[in-house]
Amino acid sequence: MKTIVVYYSNKGSNKYLAEKISNKLSCEIEEIKPRMNIFLLFLMKIHLGIKPLKHNIKDYDKVILCGPIWMGSIIPPLRSFIKRYKDSLDKLIFVTCCGSTDSKKYEKFGHGLVFKEVESILKDKCILCQSFPISLVLPDDKKEDSDAFMKTHLNDENFKGEIQVIFDDFINKVSN
Ligand SMILES: Cc1cc2nc3c(=O)[nH]c(=O)nc-3n(C[C@H](O)[C@H](O)[C@H](O)COP(=O)(O)O)c2cc1C
Repeated sequence: MKTIVVYYSNKGSNKYLAEKISNKLSCEIEEIKPRMNIFLLFLMKIHLGIKPLKHNIKDYDKVILCGPIWMGSIIPPLRSFIKRYKDSLDKLIFVTCCGSTDSKKYEKFGHGLVFKEVESILKDKCILCQSFPISLVLPDDKKEDSDAFMKTHLNDENFKGEIQVIFDDFINKVSN
């Protein structure tokens, strides 16, 4: 099985997660590069698409797509990736380090709604969606604190405990 991790990250958590997945699976990795990487313009829904990937997506059995969620939506670089490569890819696994918790995943800004949209675009090609809410690395009294989760990024210091268990379980599922 040939797998590639493809990711976009603004503040580094999804880069960290993507690299961790690729290291664990010993598979290739490539960053999605928007033609124009200006965060504020993304939020205004001004987006000029992405640069072509160096790797040929048709060469892989599984693509692990990793990136954040903004405003309850598939972010523009990931949406462009899906649009451009959906016919070339065989199976896709969608992974996000996001702000929303599992208990709020179906609320307006929750990752559950984004997962549903990814599944509805890719149909059977989407075989798994996995969230790594940033609250997993926050202390109990800060888990619902939006200020704390916006300021927190994944790193070697905080990637332990519950998030590590979810990660190991994810790697098991993806490897089988
Ligand atoms: C403008 C903005 C909007 C966001 N909106 C959401 C959201 O709707 N749902 C969510 O789960 N997280 C949301 N987040 C949190 C990010 O998904 C989270 O901080 C993520 O870990 C950032 O990933 P990165 O470090 O790879 O850029 C938002 C973050 C920003 C900056």
